[in-house]
Amino acid sequence: MLEDPYPHYAELREQYPIFWHEGMKSWVVTRYRDCRDVLRNHELFARDRRRVGEEIPEFRQSLQTLDPPDQAPLRSLIMNAFRSQDLDAVGERARARIQELFRKLAEQDSFDWMRDVAGPVALSITADLLGVPEPDPDLYSDISEGIAQRMDAGLKPANIEQGDLARTRLNALAEEWFAGDEQPGVLKDIKDRAARAGMPMHYISNSTGMMFNASYGTVFATAGNVALTLLRHPDALERLRDERLLRTGVDELVRYDGPAQGTSRVATRTTEIHGTTIEPGQIVLTLLAAANRDPREFPRPDELVLDRTPNRHLGFGWGTHACVGAMFGQVAIRELIVCLLAAPQRLRPAGTATRRQTATVRSLDVFPVAFDR
Ligand code: HEM
Repeated sequence: MLEDPYPHYAELREQYPIFWHEGMKSWVVTRYRDCRDVLRNHELFARDRRRVGEEIPEFRQSLQTLDPPDQAPLRSLIMNAFRSQDLDAVGERARARIQELFRKLAEQDSFDWMRDVAGPVALSITADLLGVPEPDPDLYSDISEGIAQRMDAGLKPANIEQGDLARTRLNALAEEWFAGDEQPGVLKDIKDRAARAGMPMHYISNSTGMMFNASYGTVFATAGNVALTLLRHPDALERLRDERLLRTGVDELVRYDGPAQGTSRVATRTTEIHGTTIEPGQIVLTLLAAANRDPREFPRPDELVLDRTPNRHLGFGWGTHACVGAMFGQVAIRELIVCLLAAPQRLRPAGTATRRQTATVRSLDVFPVAFDR
């Protein structure tokens, strides 16, 4: 299942468009249209658990936990801060960082793409974008993995303790960043905008760690998935020299094997999906990665079609909680591809790639590679 979940997803999509998963205590939805409808209908499917009577203390309320209408001012403030960043400059700094890494790594017989490229690139692009100091790579890698494991708590309850510890460590870092010297970047921009708008600062401080991890975790995992896909399809990598294909190809790589396999919402009222009754308070898990291979939406779904248009994939989510950093995730992937194509030697696998034992986040753990000599 970790190695290649897609045949299993195909079977689920055909036979079980919706099914009850006892371990996760959730309804799992597997087809594209149903997943998109759930994510789009925030009236009926909530992120904010207060809407079904749960208590969420103020110190945990953030961009991710609020729904419209409460979410609207915070979301538009954060979106505007992201949009006002200089995307080209972020891309140029990412490219310089990747080129520097590649120069050093070209001297080694082989290296681990995840530890030596995906990790440093995800860390530096995230810290640069938010305008916070780069944390220690080993410390952050542990935190990120703990949080990814925590997302699987429904499948593996034993992950809860470690995951909560990782969250506490992330919160401590986020407090330092929030109180620290202000550097240009998204965080300073958001704080300035919030002060001008008179928005309660706890929403911003609570969103800081979450934003850092949403960026690091997904860029790290995507960098691995994309490298594996392209080394398995060297012809596709070559074709990405074409600027037009690169533009559409980045999204296609996210659709084809993205890091976010699923996300969940909670029903606010009694409703039905494919004749199955969902009661208020029940969790609905949209299996994004299954939806992204649904042949009803994507012709030739199991093929990498670099010029796929339209490509309304759910790899960055959909609706009111869709990814706010998608354009920066796309820039990170684009720069990795550009640098791979510009490298004087060809990158090749140098051993067996192994996967992280996480289901919600699809990521490699170790990927031995080498530059040809
Ligand atoms: C290729 C890279 C990325 C992928 C595949 C990705 C994927 C996603 C997905 C699927 C969601 C929706 C989750 C849901 O509906 O429950 C999401 C939300 C989010 N992403 Fe990304 N993301 C990426 C990069 C980034 C970056 C660079 C940032 C920058 C900070 C970021 C920040 C966020 C935030 C803050 C949210 C929560 C939005 C909300 O709840 O309103 N992501 N992302």
